[in-house]
Order: sequence, then C-alpha cells, then structure tokens
Amino acid sequence: MTPVWDGSYRCTAGPARSRHQPDITETVDELRYARSVDDTLRASAERMRSLLVAKQAPPDVFRAALTSVPALERDAWVDHVLELDPPPEDGPELPRGCVPYLPCAVDVLLRVVDYARVQGTDVFVDVGSGVGRAAALVHLLTGAPAIGLEIQPALALASRALTERFSALRFSPVIGDATVLAGSITIGSIFFFYCPFSGDRLDKVLDDLEQIARTREIRICCVDLPLPLRPWLTLASPPAPDLAVYRSTLLDPPA
Ligand SMILES: C[S@@+](CC[C@H](N)C(=O)[O-])C[C@H]1O[C@@H](n2cnc3c(N)ncnc32)[C@H](O)[C@@H]1O
Repeated sequence: MTPVWDGSYRCTAGPARSRHQPDITETVDELRYARSVDDTLRASAERMRSLLVAKQAPPDVFRAALTSVPALERDAWVDHVLELDPPPEDGPELPRGCVPYLPCAVDVLLRVVDYARVQGTDVFVDVGSGVGRAAALVHLLTGAPAIGLEIQPALALASRALTERFSALRFSPVIGDATVLAGSITIGSIFFFYCPFSGDRLDKVLDDLEQIARTREIRICCVDLPLPLRPWLTLASPPAPDLAVYRSTLLDPPA
C-alpha cells in the first residue's frame, strides 16, 4: 500500500515566519509553499522508487538523491521511496527487557555508513532489524548485502514484503532471537545495534562476535547504546553522544 503523504512531516525551508498574526493571504501563500515542497519531495521519491524497481539506482545515484533532500525531510522521503507503512504494534514475542521497534534516523545511518566505511564488499548485519528499513537503506547507500535479525515475526514479515516489492534489494531478513543467531552470521563484517537490548544479552552477543573477529576484522556500530568495554575493540569514530563505531583489533599486526 502506498502511504499517503499526510503532511505531518516537518519542512526545513520556507518563508520566515513573522511574529505578527499572518493575514489570510500570507497563510494561503505559506500553505501553497508547503504543498509545493511536499509535491517536490513526493515526485523525487517516486522517481527514485521507479529507478529502484528498474534496478537503475546504484549507490552513488541513491546517495546523491537522498542527500539532495533537506535533512529534516529525509526520513519521510525514505519511507515514501520504500512504501513503508506505519510499523505494526510490537507483539508478545518481544522478550521482557528487549527494546521495541523504533526506526533509526536516516541521518544517523548516513554517519554509520561513513564512520564504519561500509563498502559493497561488506556484509551488514542489523541486530534487531525491525521492518528492515535500516538494513535496506545501508544496502542502497553502499551496495553491501544486508542481513536482518528480528525476533518479532510481524516485523520480519514486513521486511520480507519490502524485499518482494524491490527485488534489487540484497537484504535477507531472518526471524529469530539475535542473541542466539548473531554469532552464527560468520559472513558478517559490520554489526549494527540500534539498542535492541543490553545487559547479559549484549554481553553474550559480544562474546559470540569475538569468535568472528578472530577470523576477520569486524566493525560494531552502536546507536544510543553504551557498549561494555572489550579489549579487542577500539573506537573508530569521532566521540558522539548518539553513535559509536568500534573496530576489532584481534588481527592487527603486533605493534
Ligand atoms: C530500536 S529497534 C531498531 C530497529 C532497526 N534496527 C532500525 O534501526 O530501524 C530494536 C529492534 O530490535 C528488535 N529486538 C529486540 N530484541 C531482540 C532480540 N533478542 N532478537 C532480535 N530482535 C530483537 C525489536 O523487535 C526491534 O525491532
């Protein structure tokens, strides 16, 4: 289903609002301006969707189109391109202590791609992948195939529907508990955590990923998630309150 552009998205550009009460002409002008901004974005998103369906949107083309959209409009643009409905309610399969579905902001994902230096030769693993939005977006921005691990079947099924709408997407959603599955994704090179869980669960997954890091360098990207310290991980991104990218050092040559 194509979501309706419901006008709830914020506009960045527009005539400066004065403090006085606008008269009716100004109000109509503002509405007309806002509508034209929405129409422009909608048209741009629909063009990109056609390119994706025709398999004619390589990463540089997709990124140029996305970054030409005003920053505050990018989330809405991506939702429109990918025809993402509002996510289903979280279900009873979400274990107590695990975090419900919330999509990661597009601008954070752009920083993830840059700081983790994601390449087409990487395999991006979204640990707690929701409806597949972040995994699909990273794939479109970089060409890296993506795998999503999601415990809530309704969300994983929404991911599958996404891959069926866009057959060019190299994204494989897997239904299951990421604390059990993550360590078996030995082809993964980038593991992305938008705070799916913490505590013992996170400790276990990190211990499992250490085994992978003994065979290949991996990067671990954490959004809004303080990572427990591990001697085999070093920070690879500028300090930031919301995002940290770590690189494994187990295969580094001795100093
Ligand atoms: C904050 S959302 C992040 C969604 C997605 N990564 C994104 O950035 O758009 C956390 C997701 O992790 C999932 N999750 C929580 N615990 C999980 C677990 N043990 N195994 C797999 N998925 C889990 C939730 O169902 C939810 O979809």
